[in-house]
Amino acid sequence: MLYKLEVKLPQKIYPILIKKDIIKDICYEINKIYNSKRITIITDQNVGKLYVKALVDNLKSYGFDVYTIFIEPGENSKSIKVLTDVYNQLLDIGITRKALILAFGGGVVGDLAGFAAATFLRGIRYIQIPTSLLAQIDSSIGGKVAVNLPRGKNLIGNFYHPEAVFIDPSLLKTLPRRFLYDGMAEVIKYACIKDIDLFNKLMEVDIETDFDFIIHEIIYRCCNIKKEIVEYDEKESGERMLLNFGHTIGHAIERAFNYERFTHGEAVAIGMYCITKKSEDMGITKKGTADSIKELLVKFKLPYKLYQIDSDILIEAINLDKKSEDDYINLVLLREIGNSFMKKVKKEDIHLFLQNEM
Ligand code: GLY
Repeated sequence: MLYKLEVKLPQKIYPILIKKDIIKDICYEINKIYNSKRITIITDQNVGKLYVKALVDNLKSYGFDVYTIFIEPGENSKSIKVLTDVYNQLLDIGITRKALILAFGGGVVGDLAGFAAATFLRGIRYIQIPTSLLAQIDSSIGGKVAVNLPRGKNLIGNFYHPEAVFIDPSLLKTLPRRFLYDGMAEVIKYACIKDIDLFNKLMEVDIETDFDFIIHEIIYRCCNIKKEIVEYDEKESGERMLLNFGHTIGHAIERAFNYERFTHGEAVAIGMYCITKKSEDMGITKKGTADSIKELLVKFKLPYKLYQIDSDILIEAINLDKKSEDDYINLVLLREIGNSFMKKVKKEDIHLFLQNEM
């Protein structure tokens, strides 16, 4: 089964194709978009070990000249140093403006390769082929590309959209369970902010026994929400901020624990529950919403509570968030499941939205 979506922006329209084993007939899709010969795959060594040979063989059999650039797996690769290495390898290969890059990996590869594509020779074309659930439903769509600086994540970046996004759900089968559930936190986020039907469906399904069938629909629904939000607010001046539900506290937790103890999804899971519990106590959110979120998080083996963290540490980390405006933070809250909105909160009042005991 092939699911197809289109991201329609004023300057560009590009397809999102979701199909089991699409990486095995990817040349057919690439041929529709690209009529030169040279293709450079940027990937990491984990993905490389499993899938790159099959992809390279397939591209070569269609007559493409294929080059591969490997980066080390992990967030540390989103650095200026690795970016410079990638530029140098692109120069060694002799890449011209006509070339095409395939960003083949999870969020780190997508962000780094996308930023390299956005900036090398003032911009060359690229295709996203995301391999983690988080990348398939979120970071590969919407054109956000970036690298980190020692003082913070994604501080150098751009909005630079790919020519296409090809999503192969069968790649998720080899993903360690912790990382699949990490992506499920963002799936739950989409359900919370925009899609009560998806929320109810997630409550019912058994992801382990019906994986193949269910994962397609989950990816499609999340990509559809993301693409609609991006079409409406490409540069994140309003609606796109709703995607940050759970992220203000989530990012602060990641930072407070030095990005070591929790995955991104786990931190966002705690952020979604804690902010909703508090907004429920404040009478903003319908009673019972936080408990429903908790039930779903527990089902997908995600944490919902932090024990013994000083809220001052979180407040300090929240204040460092690059998304905060001078005196305000834009918090995303729920009225109820599927219905979200933004609330501007003065930085000095942010403690009101943190639980005494998280
Ligand atoms: N990951 C959030 C966004 O793309 O805006």
